[in-house]
Amino acid sequence: IEKPFGYNLAEARRLNDLAACHFDESEIFRIDHYLGKETVQNLLVLRFANTVLEPLWNRKYVVWVQVTAAETLGVESRGGHYEQSGALRDMLQMHLLQLLTLVAMEQPASFAAGDIRDEKAKVLRALRPIPADLVARETVRGQYGPGRADGRDVPGYRQEPGIAPDSRVETYAAVRAWIDNWRWQGVPFYLRTGKRLSARTTEIAVGFQHVPTCLFSDRGLCGRLEPNVLVISIQPREGVHLRLSSRIPGGDVNVGPVRLAFDYSETFGVRPVDAYETLLADALAGHASLFARRDQVELSWQYVDPIVETWAAQPPEFPNYAAGSAGPADADRLLAELGHRWEPLGA
Ligand code: BG6
Repeated sequence: IEKPFGYNLAEARRLNDLAACHFDESEIFRIDHYLGKETVQNLLVLRFANTVLEPLWNRKYVVWVQVTAAETLGVESRGGHYEQSGALRDMLQMHLLQLLTLVAMEQPASFAAGDIRDEKAKVLRALRPIPADLVARETVRGQYGPGRADGRDVPGYRQEPGIAPDSRVETYAAVRAWIDNWRWQGVPFYLRTGKRLSARTTEIAVGFQHVPTCLFSDRGLCGRLEPNVLVISIQPREGVHLRLSSRIPGGDVNVGPVRLAFDYSETFGVRPVDAYETLLADALAGHASLFARRDQVELSWQYVDPIVETWAAQPPEFPNYAAGSAGPADADRLLAELGHRWEPLGA
């Protein structure tokens, strides 16, 4: 079954019940194509086949996590469908929340599908609900107006074919998510997705604490020390890099950021397999770990529904970002309130 898995929690339950009339849950393969992407599959290996990351992977060392899925494309020929969904339902409800679960989950008891899916579901259960009165504080929506993308003038969303000229559908969504468990209490997970943004980038960035004290204050370097950031790039290039501070060569002590980088294609000399190739082969072989289980789909809707409903009840001021930009200015506020900022798109 390809997404969308329903339109809201009630519809998703109806669809799941219908599928359950005919098939056992173990025979149902719900495709979220993000889970078939090579670097997404690599997340569990990165986390659980290395010792250096896991001791740091918690609220003591991680200050924020950002999950970004930015597209340069507009709504293209899918206007009719998109008018029924919007960015929150289309991208955040499954793709981004699935990425969040892989970053946040505990080690599963085994690599078996059931154990992995159990841990992912636990993360979704621990997501702090965003009630209607907090939606304005914890979320931001946007819709692109005319602008420039890929070196040409492009129309706004409301001017695209099949779109209502006064459409209130969002093409950008950002959410500040919180996970109420011992590992992640107090660490914001910033999720953002949008169409017609300045760069095509899907990535997960993990920001670490500042150094507790600065050795270089007499050199005036402390303000220049940047906290470490681990970036897991999913597309367009697949790889991982860690931003560290390094001495810059030269006479006096000077410090600047450098990258320790792994690039999938350069290292392995092959292009990553297309996500659908992986998923279809897994489905045929009956391997279910890269597919969404019923409870995950319903828990994701349970989280997203109050946001959708609150947004629907309050008319937005659209358009509020230009095509080809980094998104609505208000999205910066979500992070600035806690002294954070978005990773630049396409950096
Ligand atoms: C789909 C959405 O699930 O994912 C599309 O319905 C979106 O709107 C697409 O463009 C993005 O996929 P990818 O693999 O290009 O990031």
